[in-house]
Amino acid sequence: MQPLWQEHAFDRVRADRIYRWRLRAQRFLDDVLLFFRFSTFSLHLSTMWKGRFQQETSSLVQRYGESISYDWRLYPHDIVGSMAQAEALCRAKIITKTEMTAIHKGLKEIKAEIDAGKFEWKMELEDVHMNIESALTKRIGPAGAKLHTARSRNDQIALDTRLYCRAETQEIIGLVKGLQEALVQCGLKNQSVIMPGYTHLQRGQPVLFAHHMLAYVEMLGRDAARLTDALKRINIMPLGSGALAGSTICLDREFVAQRLGFDAVTHNSMDAVSDRDYIAELLFAIALCGTHLSRLSEDIILWVSAEFGFVTLSDAHTTGSSLMPQKKNPDVAELTRGKTGRLFGNLISLLTTLKGLPLTYNRDMQEDKEPLFDSVDTIKLALAVFAEMIVGMKVNADRVRAAAGDPFLLATDLADWLVLKGVPFRHAHEIIGKLTAHSLATGTAFPDIPLEQYKAFSPVFDASVFKVLTLEQAVAARKAIGAPSPANVARELTAWQPRLAAAPRRKGK
Ligand code: ARG
Repeated sequence: MQPLWQEHAFDRVRADRIYRWRLRAQRFLDDVLLFFRFSTFSLHLSTMWKGRFQQETSSLVQRYGESISYDWRLYPHDIVGSMAQAEALCRAKIITKTEMTAIHKGLKEIKAEIDAGKFEWKMELEDVHMNIESALTKRIGPAGAKLHTARSRNDQIALDTRLYCRAETQEIIGLVKGLQEALVQCGLKNQSVIMPGYTHLQRGQPVLFAHHMLAYVEMLGRDAARLTDALKRINIMPLGSGALAGSTICLDREFVAQRLGFDAVTHNSMDAVSDRDYIAELLFAIALCGTHLSRLSEDIILWVSAEFGFVTLSDAHTTGSSLMPQKKNPDVAELTRGKTGRLFGNLISLLTTLKGLPLTYNRDMQEDKEPLFDSVDTIKLALAVFAEMIVGMKVNADRVRAAAGDPFLLATDLADWLVLKGVPFRHAHEIIGKLTAHSLATGTAFPDIPLEQYKAFSPVFDASVFKVLTLEQAVAARKAIGAPSPANVARELTAWQPRLAAAPRRKGK
C-alpha cells in the first residue's frame, strides 16, 4: 500500500497544476472583459472629468479608488439631494421647469430601478454620484448634464452622508429604546428577586435584580440622549459649498435646507466640505453604546455559567457546540463583546484619517464610509438581537436568591446599625470586620451568632440587631433616591415606561 503521505504529495502536485491553468484562463478572461468594459464605459467617464486627460485611467487605479462597491447604499439620499438641487437650479432660472420635471422623473425611475435591484452599478464610474448622474443623462439627455451646475462631489458627498447619518441615527435611537423597553419588562417580571450586587466581582451588598436591569436602562438612556444631541450637528445642510469655495452661481441654500428637512445651512464652505465631526461623534456614540452592550454581555455570560446559573437564555438565542453535546453557548453576548472592538476601531480609523488632512477636501476622506457603515450596521443588529434575547431570558429566581442569601452581604448593614446607635462609622467598620473574621473562623453565619457573642465585640449590641439580618429588610432600608429599595425600583420601572412608549415595536411582539 502506498504510504498516505506519498498519496497526499501526489495530489498536491496535480492540484497545483490545475490551479495554475485556471489562473491563466481567469487572467485571459479578465483581459477580454476589461477591453470591452473600457470601450463602453470610458465614454461616460469622459463626460464626468476626463476632459483634460489623454490616457485612460489604469484599471488598477479604478479598482483602488472606486467607492461604488460600498457607497451605492447612499443612493436614496443622493437622489433626494439631486432633486432638491434641481429645484434650486430651477428657482435660480438655470434650468427650466420642464427640465426640472424631467430630472425629477428620471431620478425617480432610477431609484425604482435600484430599489428593484435592476440598476447596473459601474465600477468605472467610481462612485454613487457619478453612477446616478451618468444614468440620468443617458436617460433624459441634456437636462441631466445641467444637474451638477454649482455643485461638486465634495458638497454632494457631505450632503449624502449627513442625510444618511440623520436617518440611521434616528433608527438607532428607536432601537436603543426598544432594548430599554425589553430591560424594563424583564425588571417588571422579576420585580421581587433580590440578588447580590458585586464590586470586584465579589459579592457586596443585596440589590434587586430589577435594579441591575435598570442600571443598563440608564446607560442606554444616555446613549439615546447622546445620539439625539449628535443629530443637532448632523442636521446642517452643506450643499452649495461647491468644491470648497461655493459657486459664482448662487443658489438659494436655505430653500434647499428646508426642502430636505435640515435645521440650518453650514456657514463656511471650506469647513462644510472638510467636516466629518458629525461622523466621528456618531461613531463615538455608537462605540460607547457598544461598550454598554459589551458590559451587559459580560454579565449575561457570567450569569448563564453553571457557576452562577442566574439566568437561562432561550434556545433561539444560544448555539450549540459541534463537539460537546451538552453545551448551550451565549454566542450573541460573546459576539457583541467581540464586535465592540470593531466599533472602537472604526472610530479610531476615522479620527486617524482626519488628523493630518489640510483643508479642504482630500480623497482620504472617502475612507470615512466603510467604518461608518460598519458601525451603523453592527450596532443596529446588536441592539435588535439583544432586545429579542432579553425578552426570551428567564431569571432563575431561586438561584439568584440563594446567592443573595450569603450572610456576609449584610455586613455593611450591621455596621450601619451600630452607626445608628451612635458608634462612629470607622469604629463600627472595625467591629464588624472582627465579627466577620469570627464568623469565618467558627463557620457561624451572622444570624446564628448568639447575642452574648455579639456583645463581646461591642456592648452596644442588643436583640434588635437581628432585625437587620434579613434580605427584605436590607433592601427595603435602602430608600434614598437612586438606591434599590423595592418602592424606588417600582417607581423607576413605572417612570421609564411612558418615556419609552414612543419606541417602535419590535417585530413579533
Ligand atoms: N467618493 C468620494 C468620497 O467619498 C466623493 C467625493 C469625491 N470628490 C473628489 N474630489 N474626488 O469622498
